[in-house]
Amino acid sequence: MKIAALIAMCAAAGLGVGAAQAQERTLTIGTEGAYPPFNVVDNTGEVTGFDIDFGNALCEQLNATCEWVTMDFAGLIPALQNGRFDMVIASHSITADRLEVVDMVKYYSNSASFVMLTDSVTEDTSPDGLAGKTLGAQSGTTHASFLETTYTEAEFRLYPTQVEAYADLVAGRVDGVMGDTTALYAWANSEEGQQCCVLAGEPIVNEALGDGVGIIVTKGNEDLSAELTTAIDALRADGTYDRINADYFPFSIW
Ligand code: ARG
Repeated sequence: MKIAALIAMCAAAGLGVGAAQAQERTLTIGTEGAYPPFNVVDNTGEVTGFDIDFGNALCEQLNATCEWVTMDFAGLIPALQNGRFDMVIASHSITADRLEVVDMVKYYSNSASFVMLTDSVTEDTSPDGLAGKTLGAQSGTTHASFLETTYTEAEFRLYPTQVEAYADLVAGRVDGVMGDTTALYAWANSEEGQQCCVLAGEPIVNEALGDGVGIIVTKGNEDLSAELTTAIDALRADGTYDRINADYFPFSIW
């Protein structure tokens, strides 16, 4: 390409000459860091997981650098609303309640399941099937509110993080833990999960549990939502999404 054409292109894209090689856009992304294998702080203090690999690919697609900030799950949406982040990528399901306060762009599909102690597993994970059991979930999640409203004949315990719910399951203090099927699948197949527990019953799909899992942006930020939608389409089309998916799951989560 001729230099003049390149300069004209940069000008059209709103870039000063010379800015083409300097990547100046930073996208600040909030996540949690206690939700394996989606977002988890490893023993060197770095946050890793599907959400992070996917987010970094998005930033690259948008010619930006991601800056990751971790905080408690419950604090993420309020912090976004206070302008602390450009977006949140923490495996939030897309629900009507959340869409009243933020906008969301789908990046994978969801259903809910239970992991249960192998000793007390039942194939019937309906509210009737689990009547009398003690069930756990992470507070602030769709699963916590679903247990509360639907599993009225069960006892339930809520935990600040999903990993704390798993710990109580391993210790036998709860019979089962509800969560996203993808996350539970990974945990049930982990070294820790395999020793005590199995994924039980059929995946549960319900409007209250949300339709898809989404990136969260401030309500009304249509420009960023549109950019994210286009970038996700590109990552799906060029195989990047599938490659990241395959690092975590032997099936498509799209
Ligand atoms: N998908 C569920 C929800 O939207 C669980 C998300 C949990 N995410 C996390 N980072 N702990 O509520």
